[in-house]
Amino acid sequence: MPYEVQGVVSRAKGEPVSLETVLVPDPGPGEAVVNVQACGVCHTDLHYREGGINDDFPFLLGHEAAGVVEAVGEGVTDLEPGDYVILNWRAVCGTCRACKRGKPWYCFSTFNAAQPMTLTDGTKLSPALGIGAFLEKTLVHSGQCTKVNREAEPAVAGLLGCGVMAGLGAAINTGAVTRGDSVAVIGCGGVGDAAIAGAKLAGATTIVAIDMDDRKLTWAKDFGATHTVNSKGLSEEQVVEAMQDATSGFGPDVVIDAVGRPETWRQAFYGRDLAGTVVLVGVPTPEMRLNDLPLIDFFSRGGSLKSSWYGDCLPSRDFPMLVDLYLQGRLPLDKFVTERIGVDGVEQAFERMHHGDVLRSVVTF
Ligand SMILES: NC(=O)c1ccc[n+]([C@@H]2O[C@H](COP(=O)([O-])OP(=O)(O)OC[C@H]3O[C@@H](n4cnc5c(N)ncnc54)[C@H](O)[C@@H]3O)[C@@H](O)[C@H]2O)c1
Ligand SMILES: [Zn+2]
Ligand SMILES: [Zn+2]
Repeated sequence: MPYEVQGVVSRAKGEPVSLETVLVPDPGPGEAVVNVQACGVCHTDLHYREGGINDDFPFLLGHEAAGVVEAVGEGVTDLEPGDYVILNWRAVCGTCRACKRGKPWYCFSTFNAAQPMTLTDGTKLSPALGIGAFLEKTLVHSGQCTKVNREAEPAVAGLLGCGVMAGLGAAINTGAVTRGDSVAVIGCGGVGDAAIAGAKLAGATTIVAIDMDDRKLTWAKDFGATHTVNSKGLSEEQVVEAMQDATSGFGPDVVIDAVGRPETWRQAFYGRDLAGTVVLVGVPTPEMRLNDLPLIDFFSRGGSLKSSWYGDCLPSRDFPMLVDLYLQGRLPLDKFVTERIGVDGVEQAFERMHHGDVLRSVVTF
């Protein structure tokens, strides 16, 4: 018998989300049903609602979640009912060319549940990032469940399932920030502040936070920013100069773009030191273009230009470690939770995100 639960659905581009009855099938081979205890509201959910990811409406939103396994399907041996897990959206396959070459964080064939979750009329839902977790129970591939220490409460732990992991990993994994580095982070929402926390954890000595909202900059300081720049009204050149001013005139070793717009990427590209690294972790929309950049600037500035999928994380390696660092008081994951809301509060949470009032609103069940 399928489970019948209320879930947050985005039916059409730009339209407010609605709470709908969703049918969640019993887990099939390799799958698991998880009792979602908490799920954060990420900007990527809003991107889906705005049609910025693809047109596969209706979407079942929510993907930064933690909970307890309810049931597992045939052949699942490493997970059982009662396990406390964070859901991940890159369950690696182990057999594709990236996995075989020992770089599973690039896995090109990640797993999701094979069966669909549906509306009561049978309409198939597209789960955000292959999860869909703004509902009490969800169906995922068993590889999407990563067991962690249950002492970390779900509202906090669940954030590692997406934005916070993406930001931490953008600094630690993709940007390979190390002690003594200078780092700038453009866009200080949940992802950007996690990049700041990651840079601090890795030992960066200068961390420049850039945002257009002073409240965000105050929070960024709390996570470890040593310098702040409010870029509202500044030209791209002025933002570049501000990064250089904070780093003895040279520019940061690593600049992380946690916005994902052509102008912020250019700020990162020109702001970093010679041979420095750009990390793009913010997600651009399909129509965005980088026009007319002189090719010679790519050559003469050297360095590396990287994108960060999910912070190049390996959930099985990174989630338990980061939860442990949190429980030891070395990573302030709880500071990302601005408010706890009900499952009927997602649309209002998008509004607050849009106005910059929150780092993370977390739906709790
Ligand atoms: N790469 C990944 O795997 C991954 C994972 C999760 C989220 N993301 C993406 O990361 C981005 C950030 O997500 P979030 O949840 O932190 O969003 P958010 O809305 O909480 O934060 C965005 C921040 O950027 C600031 N900002 C906007 N335009 C700016 C500009 N031009 N210059 C400076 N600051 C600006 C805003 O004031 C805000 O503080 C989104 O694009 C999201 O889709 C990527
Ligand atoms: Zn693979
Ligand atoms: Zn997300």
